[in-house]
Amino acid sequence: MTTIDNYTIKRNLGSGAFSKVKLAETPEGQLVALKISKKLENNENVDSSNNQELFYAETEALQELSHPYIIKYFGHSDSSFQVKKDGTISKVQYIAIEYVDQGEIFDYVAQTGKFSEEEARYYFKQLIEVIEYCHENGYAHRDIKPENILIDSKFNLRLADFGFATRASKSHARKGTFGYMAPEVLARKAYDTRQHDLYAAAIVLFVLATQHPPFSAADLEDKYFKRVYDEKWSEFWSIHSDCNLSYNFKNLVSQMLMADPSQRLTLEQIKQHEWFKGPELSEDEIFARFTKRRMAMTKAHHVGKSCFEKTFPSHRILTDFYQVDDGDKLLNIAVKFAKKNRFKCHKSRTYFRVQIYVEEFGEETGILISILRKPNSEMRAIEFKKIAGDGITFKSTIGKLREYLDTFFLPNSK
Ligand SMILES: Nc1ncnc2c1ncn2[C@@H]1O[C@H](COP(=O)(O)OP(=O)(O)O)[C@@H](O)[C@H]1O
Ligand SMILES: [Mg+2]
Repeated sequence: MTTIDNYTIKRNLGSGAFSKVKLAETPEGQLVALKISKKLENNENVDSSNNQELFYAETEALQELSHPYIIKYFGHSDSSFQVKKDGTISKVQYIAIEYVDQGEIFDYVAQTGKFSEEEARYYFKQLIEVIEYCHENGYAHRDIKPENILIDSKFNLRLADFGFATRASKSHARKGTFGYMAPEVLARKAYDTRQHDLYAAAIVLFVLATQHPPFSAADLEDKYFKRVYDEKWSEFWSIHSDCNLSYNFKNLVSQMLMADPSQRLTLEQIKQHEWFKGPELSEDEIFARFTKRRMAMTKAHHVGKSCFEKTFPSHRILTDFYQVDDGDKLLNIAVKFAKKNRFKCHKSRTYFRVQIYVEEFGEETGILISILRKPNSEMRAIEFKKIAGDGITFKSTIGKLREYLDTFFLPNSK
């Protein structure tokens, strides 16, 4: 049994660059989430100041902000000890927050398919409401993305991860996640921190309704973003034509994604937009629909078929099974795929593994592909694990690789 102060640690909920989030229980039996990071001494690690900065920014923001769509703060400690089963002790700091039990909105889109415009509107309105609340209370979040948007037991959203939150209204600091950054943030220009959140919100909306990002980054080298920059909207939307989006949806998103910050809709204008004011789903309707989605996620998990698992919460994992006599055949196809797409790729000779790196403007999404033998069977499992970078890029790359594999083998879902 691992403990920290009076908390008993039960299991992992998620993790990121500096922290691990664990489900814990108080002596009274209340479940909470603990966001734990190692307590680093100043001279211990070059990142220690960064680590401390995130910790204090987050504790401060969570203590000051209180809103139904923000995770609740219970307490924090900057000097505690984690005691493991085997007796090892380490110095940690943690923030105790409310446990939000229905997962990330990311998983709903990634595993159960794109949201209808009405479903997307339900969550987008909540997102805009919570962003407005933060801004009115002097904060910008700066890391709005589907992984940081949790879903509570009523299927309403809870914004998490305030490590990059700031009270500054202007900043140069490139904080956040590349794929969700406004072009001025990415380019390290002086930017308005509130615009950072609104730009990311537009990308979240796009992702919810389409299941893929509008571009990999708001950088001119990205051919999709180039269309945004040049305001070639009909080309931009025809690339994404598979999605069947309404005129108003496209109009809203286009005006939120404008490259020039002064051309973008303000928060007030977003709320006045026709699409924003469109038909609403009731809480009951959302509850019914998302309970179904949730069950589909749980089911996929149990049969072990093509699913994103959370064994290593920061690393999304996906496993497929193939009937092949030699695992190397599967690996060679993965290598072929990488070469065809000019992805960086390292094959390990001794283990059945290959790493692929998909580079997008300084950010590399790393995928580790391993071949495992299914016990007592001639089947091989091919496992894809995200080891770095962006979840959506991971998912779309794996999608293409699986299609490619399927042109060689028939997958077997057992
Ligand atoms: N209160 C919570 N309840 C349940 N899961 C949580 C909670 N807070 C975080 N998580 C999970 O842990 C992950 C990482 O937490 P987050 O605060 O985003 O940390 P990081 O700064 O490392 O990204 C989240 O994406 C989510 O899946
Ligand atoms: Mg996070």
